[in-house]
Amino acid sequence: MKVLGIESSCDETGVAVYCSEKGLLGHKVNSQIDLFTEYGGVIPEIAARDHSVKIIKLLEKLLSELNLSLENIDLIAYTVGPGLIGSLMVGETVAKTIAKTKSIEILPIHHLEGHILAPGLEDKDVPPPYLCLLVSGGHTQIIDCKSYGDYTIIGETIDDACGEAFDKVGKLLNLEYPGGPKVSKLADSGDSSRFKFPRALTKDRNYNFSFSGLKTSVLYTVNDSDESDYADIAASFQEAVIDVLTKKVAWALEDTGHQRLICSGGVAANKNLRERLQLLSAESNIEVLYPSLEFCTDNAAMIAYAGYIRKKFNLKSHQTNFARPRWPLGELYA
Ligand code: KG4
Ligand code: ZN
Repeated sequence: MKVLGIESSCDETGVAVYCSEKGLLGHKVNSQIDLFTEYGGVIPEIAARDHSVKIIKLLEKLLSELNLSLENIDLIAYTVGPGLIGSLMVGETVAKTIAKTKSIEILPIHHLEGHILAPGLEDKDVPPPYLCLLVSGGHTQIIDCKSYGDYTIIGETIDDACGEAFDKVGKLLNLEYPGGPKVSKLADSGDSSRFKFPRALTKDRNYNFSFSGLKTSVLYTVNDSDESDYADIAASFQEAVIDVLTKKVAWALEDTGHQRLICSGGVAANKNLRERLQLLSAESNIEVLYPSLEFCTDNAAMIAYAGYIRKKFNLKSHQTNFARPRWPLGELYA
């Protein structure tokens, strides 16, 4: 079975083909990051327009490189939500048009299920049960994954997502959007113990996060500093975020009894976070798995793979067949 994956939920246009026998045959991502540098964030109208300009060419290029045509595709899996409505609708229109004209089966996929299953996409299946730490520009969640299609959010941010906090701090430090990778790079040359930033919601045992107070605290510190302090601010901020993430994950692992942790989403690319999770892994004998860097950020390979898993295990269908911008993972079947 060959599954065509289509992703367009935010500012990355992605297409991929996953094969049940041979694994991922290929994928392509067009990032719109350059379009948004001058604005410091994604402009939904521009994102949707760019998806519509790029997606067909990207698909044609992928299929021709793989020496495949739409006739070889058995299933189309596309991101139906959550995300930006205009962006989602571009991917959905392409997916539905191909499905209808070529009589191919189509499966709508929840974007976060793509991130949750992403580590299984490369060399071996990685079946649940496991705990997933999902850290991206839009989400910060700890998810108890009991089996394929059965995910319970046991903790999440009550305000900003962790990637969003990285991006906002990047802006404060005059770094280009998206700030996450640049803050992390700047932090490499800084002293992470210089500024004591708050670690919110860590006094009581719970798995929720809050990053808005941290961001405000960084703002006050930046206002009282000059550029020579920026590396120390970046390092101290990053340390605060990672302290909180690892503390909550350690609690969640202990309480759920999971022996395996999946770390996914754009912030999973952060090398200091990986180092700390590696320490946790060594201390508590937990297996920690990440998708490769290219599959940590948004891509269609994880969507194609989620479609393959849904089909293989004959999972219950979603009620959602039309672009759904707001769609909490807890309402997967509602
Ligand atoms: O999953 P993703 O590609 O898009 C969604 O939000 O769905 O994640 C993008 C986020 C951005 O906020 C970006 O700044 C952050 O991931 N990010 C990082 C790093 N690489 C990407 N944050 C911290 N350190 C990094 N190395
Ligand atoms: Zn994402």
